[in-house]
Amino acid sequence: MTSSAYKIIPATFTAIPSLEAWRAIAVAAVETPDAALEAIGYVIGTDGDVPAAVGLDRAALGRAGFTGKTGETLLVPTNDGAELIAVGAGDAALTGSTLRDVAAAFARAAKASARIGLVVPGNPAVSAAEAGAVITEGILLARYRFSALQSAPKDTPLAAVEIAVAEASVDELATGIRRGVVTSRSAALARDLANAPPSHLTATDLADIAAQLGDEFGFDVESYDKAQLIEMGCGGLLGVNAGSAEEPRMIRLSFTPAPSSANGRHVAFVGKGIMYDSGGISLKPSDPMHLLMKMDMGGAAAVLGAVTALRDLDSPTAVTAFLSCTDNMPSGSAYKLGDVLTARNGTTIEVKNTDAEGRLVMSDALVLASEGKPDAIVDIATLTGAALMALGGATAALLGNDEAVIEGVKDAGAASGESVWQLPLEKSYRKQLDSDIADISNLGGPHAGATTAALFLAEFVDGIPWAHLDIAGTMQSTTDEAWRSKGATGFGARLLVDFAMNFRSE
Ligand code: BES
Ligand code: MN
Ligand code: ZN
Repeated sequence: MTSSAYKIIPATFTAIPSLEAWRAIAVAAVETPDAALEAIGYVIGTDGDVPAAVGLDRAALGRAGFTGKTGETLLVPTNDGAELIAVGAGDAALTGSTLRDVAAAFARAAKASARIGLVVPGNPAVSAAEAGAVITEGILLARYRFSALQSAPKDTPLAAVEIAVAEASVDELATGIRRGVVTSRSAALARDLANAPPSHLTATDLADIAAQLGDEFGFDVESYDKAQLIEMGCGGLLGVNAGSAEEPRMIRLSFTPAPSSANGRHVAFVGKGIMYDSGGISLKPSDPMHLLMKMDMGGAAAVLGAVTALRDLDSPTAVTAFLSCTDNMPSGSAYKLGDVLTARNGTTIEVKNTDAEGRLVMSDALVLASEGKPDAIVDIATLTGAALMALGGATAALLGNDEAVIEGVKDAGAASGESVWQLPLEKSYRKQLDSDIADISNLGGPHAGATTAALFLAEFVDGIPWAHLDIAGTMQSTTDEAWRSKGATGFGARLLVDFAMNFRSE
């Protein structure tokens, strides 16, 4: 399956170690955390009571430098027992998003401990179930590490987490925890795939993993190989793949809700799956950016991660997904500048830059998605450096042709803490994509690169309500920060889960 002789991959290697890791972590709702845990955190705001268990009053905490501002942590010395950590919650008005970040800050402060507990004050703004879900996500995602290729993990893996929320029903809290375990597992799987080295995870490998995940999590998987893609007329994906020693794959996932839960609605997700983006003949300059390009399949990873959650969360919405997968390599057989590719819907595309490959592989996948006549399409792609320049690493660019779908994505972004910001799909820029010899070119002008890329994609959705997420900036984090762990963030996996769970169409 793999063609490069230099790849000596340990037989024990798995590109999705989080599948095992998540099974090994017990997360429980409790009234009071077990005193035998290694570390217990107490969430404390800038005012209000300090729990008696902390053993210090606010003035004493203040003298130790703890003010209670969001994300602040203080190790409180004790004579014996669990390590005691004060965790700042800010000015009491905790939202789900802040609570997730606060829980993450605690999990990082307790990083040497495998068995930890967190005590949170009652908070009417966040239901017990939501609290359970966001605290679980914050803790599990903060402690995520990709250690599959380390002889011994450098960080202490989590074994047990106990969560107590004052005045909350333990049953409701437990319901939320179960949801948080599933959604954070989705994100962790997406991180695993994006963190995996490019030669450890080819397009064919990803198709195999998708099939394995489909068996385990109750969705159907079909993969189309090169010969089938030729039959299907997927000239965009084939063009990008031309320079590669590895075969491409178009991976189709489909989830059908249980009849008793189904809402009759159907959405399609489409993910960019460039396993490695060298730029092709338009070779990227040799800078550290190259190292990130193994993550150019972050969109496909987010979609696959999201779909693994749908059965366990009893999604009412049917989901079909397409992951368009290949690497983008220069070679004697590579596609060239000036070549014209023909996408599945017959659109001819003049290639003016082989590094604008994402939109080419997305074109065929969007056409396939639209052929299924879904109620909406949401695509996610590490598409443009321009999105990174405009919005940085915390916020993804959001564009689309339908305000209702865009609003749905905004809501899902807010609920998941995966921040999005809408950019205009400015139609007057479409002429930048004009070609003298084909229907469209793959290169816009020097400005508004995220918009011109989205305008290109818009031509392949056949008028179906559509939203596009450009995650070039948010696919990875250079530091450990709140729920984002250094490396691939899995951005979009939890957002897409939330979108499917809450999808409405008029
Ligand atoms: N995969 C890159 C976009 C990217 C850049 C993702 C930085 C993550 C971090 C994409 O394929 C690309 O190369 N885009 C070009 C497009 C240009 C040639 C029109 C870009 O943005 O420079
Ligand atoms: Mn590129
Ligand atoms: Zn790319």
